[in-house]
Amino acid sequence: MVYQIYPRSFADANNDGIGDVRGMIDKLDYLKDLGVNAVWVSPWYPSPMADGGYDVTDYCDIDASFGTLADADEFVVGAHERGLRVLIDLVPNHSSEAHPAFRAALGAGPGSPEREMFHFADGTGSDGSRPPNNWGSLFGGPAWERVVGPSGPEQWYLHMFAPEQPDWNWVNPAVVALFDDVIRFWFDRGVDGLRVDVADGLVKATGYPDTPIDPDTGLGIASFYPGHPWWNQPELEAIQRHWREIGDGYADRHLGERIFVCEANTKPLDALMRFVDAGRMHTTFNFDMLWCEWEAGSLRAMIDRNLVSHATVGAPTTWVLGNHDCTRVVTRYGKPETGRPFTLDGPPAEWQYRFADYFTPMPTDNELGRRRARAAALLELALPGPAYIYQGEELGLPEVEDLPDAARQDPSFFRAGGRTKGRDGCRVPLPWSATTPPYGFGTDAQPWLPQPPVWAELSAAAQVGDADSTLTLYRRALAVRGTHPALGDGALAWGDTYPGKVLYFTREPGFGCLVNISGAPVDLPSGAEVVVASAPLVDGRVPTDTTVWLTLASD
Ligand code: BGC
Repeated sequence: MVYQIYPRSFADANNDGIGDVRGMIDKLDYLKDLGVNAVWVSPWYPSPMADGGYDVTDYCDIDASFGTLADADEFVVGAHERGLRVLIDLVPNHSSEAHPAFRAALGAGPGSPEREMFHFADGTGSDGSRPPNNWGSLFGGPAWERVVGPSGPEQWYLHMFAPEQPDWNWVNPAVVALFDDVIRFWFDRGVDGLRVDVADGLVKATGYPDTPIDPDTGLGIASFYPGHPWWNQPELEAIQRHWREIGDGYADRHLGERIFVCEANTKPLDALMRFVDAGRMHTTFNFDMLWCEWEAGSLRAMIDRNLVSHATVGAPTTWVLGNHDCTRVVTRYGKPETGRPFTLDGPPAEWQYRFADYFTPMPTDNELGRRRARAAALLELALPGPAYIYQGEELGLPEVEDLPDAARQDPSFFRAGGRTKGRDGCRVPLPWSATTPPYGFGTDAQPWLPQPPVWAELSAAAQVGDADSTLTLYRRALAVRGTHPALGDGALAWGDTYPGKVLYFTREPGFGCLVNISGAPVDLPSGAEVVVASAPLVDGRVPTDTTVWLTLASD
């Protein structure tokens, strides 16, 4: 089980309102007690924070607000001492406008090798005042920004995300070499793996062909569709195989395994499976679970299609319920629409991943959402393959939906002109203790995003001794998962003893998982004993929106 740390919002040891690496070190025992096997740390590199650290000025250092390289080393050693592996974010698609290579490119002028490190192109129109093509950015607005040099406006540069995040040119061997050094730098320091940001977007089609117009923006479509000129280009394969060789070189030298995890939204699933073909990446996030509605038929189809597809390549399926880019799971499941319907063919064809708060306009019932989120956590943790938990899910934190606009920092909020609220609501600093802000995040400094009053009852300290808390549920489930011979990798078999609105599967030896999403309580299988339950049984029956883990009677 991999726990995602978003450093700005995790723990603030130096009390400046921003989380830091020393705060992460202080919480290593909490993570060990929670029962995780690995942590993934979102970017901790020097950054102007135009996109929360996904705009990097130096890939081989730590941002001063987070600490120092020595702190990072101490974190890795401390994690290893506690049996936790460490993955960090690699951000290879784009840098920061403040990266020295981009500053050099701006200064060097059109046609220079420095500009070849990025995507610079002449504008269109008689005076070049229109962008090179119609591409829209994933954060809203055009994907091109015009350079204004000492003698006035000149070329444009490409940014799939914010203008502060210029895209690297991955067909340039100098870019490949630069990242080889970065990968080795962290692997040499003992980091066990890399979560590869925007792993399917690195290469852009030659000639920058236009995309069809997105009616919402009037610009070329930015999000994925098969054949899109910046998603899943064929050249990615060579890049991934090359990285894999670098990683495997560590195991060959008996220095330990080094792994790669793709963040990719490539569709259909068969195309995504190519990323985890032998000799390419180890795993890829499965965002289907995150987007699937809380409905038995959809969940079963989503699970089956992922298990079957991954089995064809022999890679483990990962399961993701939440992360720093989407509405928190408690809040999603508390909405009248909880996600997308799924069939064995996947989500509806018109489905597009966007940095939008699809869920926000709907009212929320957080109590219902938390009940379902607890049931979903037990489902996720019972499935074969690695599970990802985003910080705060173990506390049952809801999205903070009423953040004042003045406090928001997510560029997707600003670039979309406020049409979407963006991702700040899932990034509010964690509550560790106490009943007033900053709830033990720091000692008294106000955190970079304001925390809501409900954090008082949801803090880790408030939950740790409470047998019914979400934290206790996660700790219990992870303890069982860590030792039960049926859990972790392996297979599952669906039992068909229940009506359609109940998911029931078994895993050998002797484990059962029952998820009741029907409107009525259901009986336990005969002879089964409850090991963990997401909510109390009622008269010995499993109530609605509840998952139970079972020890099955042996025949
Ligand atoms: C990250 C986002 C980030 C974007 C650009 C993603 O997919 O998860 O948080 O804004 O890449 O780096």
